[in-house]
Amino acid sequence: MSATDLAAVAKAMVAPGRGVLAADESNATITKRFAALDIESTEENRRAYRDTLLSTPGIEDYISGVILYDETIRQSSADGTPFPKMLERKGILPGIKVDTGSKPLALDNDEQVTEGLDGLRERIAEYVSLGAKFAKWRAVYIIDEARGFPTDYAMHCNAHALARYGALCQEGGLVPIIEPEVLMDGENDIETCAWVTEHVQRRVFQELSRQNVSLEGMVLKPSMVISGKKSTSQAGPQEVAERTLTCLYRTVPPAVPGIAFLSGGQPAAVATEHLDLMNKMGPHPWTLTFSYGRALQDEALRTWKGSTDNVAEAQKVASHRAGLTSAAATGTYSRDMETAGV
Ligand code: 13P
Repeated sequence: MSATDLAAVAKAMVAPGRGVLAADESNATITKRFAALDIESTEENRRAYRDTLLSTPGIEDYISGVILYDETIRQSSADGTPFPKMLERKGILPGIKVDTGSKPLALDNDEQVTEGLDGLRERIAEYVSLGAKFAKWRAVYIIDEARGFPTDYAMHCNAHALARYGALCQEGGLVPIIEPEVLMDGENDIETCAWVTEHVQRRVFQELSRQNVSLEGMVLKPSMVISGKKSTSQAGPQEVAERTLTCLYRTVPPAVPGIAFLSGGQPAAVATEHLDLMNKMGPHPWTLTFSYGRALQDEALRTWKGSTDNVAEAQKVASHRAGLTSAAATGTYSRDMETAGV
């Protein structure tokens, strides 16, 4: 793929009112989500669940791309159509998670670094042959003020790996989603999250520049600037939106076509409201949209519950949620739409 083609794919991923569905849970993660609802995590159940989501009627009105997992990109819909082909027919770009998860950082103390670089060039070539158009790599950063986390070492190692992955993707013809996720579950207040997120993102863009990653051919997937879940002072939605924007304006060059947030465990309506508020404060130099996992899926998964009898209802729920999130991507969401439908 030429630089122009990469830029066109990146732009399509963040087209106005559309965003990315993160359905790339590893088998370990989806097994945990299934277990919470007493659903057995067999290969067929994982396939049937992804089939339910991806074949939701009209989902293409809201979803520009879907991130798949290694097992899922090789699976097919009930009628035998491979998932990447089925998505392509709907005008949805197939994507693939290519990192192999985060592991403890050597000689550190509980921080994480994301693995998956060895052999990545060859894996990218295979994913391209399976129909992938973009990829995802998630780096995680823990905030722990008492221990000085994230350390400079953790920020450096993760930024370096994100940039190496980004360069390999662009060389091999995939648009990289660059995902530095500052975890939201600490005791820290929003000010600390703002400081950390700004430094993390600054480091990431420095490293992308060093390794010649084209900004036009990538999408940034950041976490929002938010109070830690265990913090006693919880900032309101307006402050979250303002601080997140301040951080982005300080760190993300306008050459980046779009920013697609992760939801990070925020309740769906909260993640939707935050995105909506940021868009109401626009226009911005980049499109602000979503690449949510849990915030798009949680209710649909609870409705599906592992039974074919619930497929139609689960699809209704998935479509409604995607519609609300799409409205937030254009700043036209309001809370009463949660119950009124779209
Ligand atoms: P959440 O929206 O559930 O955080 O998932 C997004 C994602 O892809 C994390 O890597």
